[in-house]
Amino acid sequence: MKRDFLRIKDLTRDEIYKIFDITKKLKNQRKKNRIFPVLKGLSIGLLFTKPSTRTRVSFEVAIYELGGNSIYLSGETTQISRGETVKDTAKVLSRYIDGLIIRTYEQEEVEEFAKWSNFPVINALTDLLHPCQVLADFFTIYEKKGTLKNIKITYIGDGNNVCHSLILGADLLGIEIRISCPEKYMPSEKILKQVENKNLVKIDTNPERFIQDADVIYTDTWVSMGDEKEAEERKKIFKSYQVNRKLLESTKKDFIFMHCLPAHRGWEVEDEIIDGKNSVVFDQAENRLHTQKALLCFLYHKL
Ligand code: CP
Repeated sequence: MKRDFLRIKDLTRDEIYKIFDITKKLKNQRKKNRIFPVLKGLSIGLLFTKPSTRTRVSFEVAIYELGGNSIYLSGETTQISRGETVKDTAKVLSRYIDGLIIRTYEQEEVEEFAKWSNFPVINALTDLLHPCQVLADFFTIYEKKGTLKNIKITYIGDGNNVCHSLILGADLLGIEIRISCPEKYMPSEKILKQVENKNLVKIDTNPERFIQDADVIYTDTWVSMGDEKEAEERKKIFKSYQVNRKLLESTKKDFIFMHCLPAHRGWEVEDEIIDGKNSVVFDQAENRLHTQKALLCFLYHKL
């Protein structure tokens, strides 16, 4: 039976650890030989209706190095932009390709693709969720800290798709996550209702509240794709949520700073933090490639 990856909770905790094991193997193996052709003969589409640097490139490289063929489909150049239904598109693509990686606005659209296609569908970001990002994020924490046990994550900023997936992932993996957001930009109630271990998720409007004992301090853009018209208003509201030297005065020495990128330097984070010794943002970005390769191997039962 096909497996989709539309949300982090499409995997179990054990499966996530299995994917981390595969990630470690593939990451080591890549140092010797980049090509590991377990997806030979498979074609996987990337249907993107929003811009991307990391997700698109890391998936295309992942598919190439696994011996498969990637086909990039921009939203505007497919017939979906002229009104062809997701159902018809999914049924047609099912006759040609072996998987589809989708970046779009509505979570319902990726769900609809998954419903009508006979291949694995991967969510490469919707307005609600970004599961591929947090798969790499949790792997990065695991790699840097050596464990996910007793880790405390503090997320500061917008209660957006990345924040939602971090919350659901932390719940699944048994990690404490503390969120500092302005009142108007709290995570969605729809997401918070899905949390099973309510004691693991704490939310506050005070950005200083969860700094002191954090192992991970994470932020993201204040202006996600689609929010551009609100940029100036958001900049004012989020001003006190900037991750800067002053906010981080009382941190543990060995905390790690994370950001899914792209960053608006000087907005949500100061240069000296993102470029500082505690920052792991470029290792985190690199791990998108390794974890997505492992995810593909897992979904296609290749390792
Ligand atoms: N973090 C992330 O998804 O980056 P891109 O938007 O560049 O893909």
